Amino acid sequence: MNPVLDIRNLTIEYDTPTGVFTAVRNVSFSLAPGERFGLVGESGSGKSTTILALMRMLRGGRVASGDLLLNGRDVSAIPEREFRTVRFAQMSLVPQGAMSSLNPVLRIGRQIGDLFDDHGVRHGRDERRRAIGSLLQRVGLPPEAQDRFPHELSGGMKQRVCIAMSIALGPSLILADEPTSALDVMVQKQVLATLGRVQKDLGAAIVLIGHDMALMAHFVDRIGVMYRGELVEMGPVREVFASPKHDYTRMLIESLPSFDAPRALRRAAQGATFARGG
Ligand SMILES: Nc1ncnc2c1ncn2[C@@H]1O[C@H](COP(=O)(O)OP(=O)(O)OP(=O)(O)O)[C@@H](O)[C@H]1O
Ligand SMILES: [Mg+2]
Repeated sequence: MNPVLDIRNLTIEYDTPTGVFTAVRNVSFSLAPGERFGLVGESGSGKSTTILALMRMLRGGRVASGDLLLNGRDVSAIPEREFRTVRFAQMSLVPQGAMSSLNPVLRIGRQIGDLFDDHGVRHGRDERRRAIGSLLQRVGLPPEAQDRFPHELSGGMKQRVCIAMSIALGPSLILADEPTSALDVMVQKQVLATLGRVQKDLGAAIVLIGHDMALMAHFVDRIGVMYRGELVEMGPVREVFASPKHDYTRMLIESLPSFDAPRALRRAAQGATFARGG
């Protein structure tokens, strides 16, 4: 099957006051239709830069070399006018800090409606309301959430709105940049579960960016580890966890709070026995 996304030898540079900085170096990976791929790595390792290049949203940076193919098409060769329709319809982004990208002065329904308008999706008035309501329901929100302003919603609800917008036009690829990192742990899990469900229903492939290896391990099929601009390790989650090749990956896994949990529990249990025995 042809890959939805094929990134080959991607190198990205930013112009900085002190010269050219290579933020992403020679990165290659591809995604099969419906596949879940996780991108982890420390802050500044080039995760966001990689997917912003794909969306052609780099600010102050450029693709220095390499290819970005979306459903077999070279992303950089698509005329800007047409590319506007590619965003959301073929590939959508839940940007880092997405909820703060919602317009604070427009009701949720209006913001989703604008998205439909921008992409030539026409509805009658009642039909539009129903379409937005059912979209919101797909991400676990009540249809009436469309009448709210962003500040009237919780963080988790706002993030669900952003997910709703990312699936509104049925893309074959979703790019989610730390979609849950601003939320508390319980809400994180719920929002991620929702993202997983809608992604599956849609049959879309997804690139999920995050720091949290544990959360990631439950969600993705394959994982890639970025370190200082390079993709230093990539493979099925199970394999990467069972035998990490790169020092940084090993460190990420070992730093998981749950990693040593069984031993820690045993130790605590023993401690309790000793305490009782003593
Ligand atoms: N507009 C820019 N101009 C110059 N340098 C930039 C710019 N945007 C990002 N960088 C640099 O590129 C590198 C990669 O940044 P990027 O945002 O892709 O990292 P990240 O892996 O997404 O990190 P985080 O986990 O913190 O979101 C960093 O060193 C960053 O400082
Ligand atoms: Mg980032």
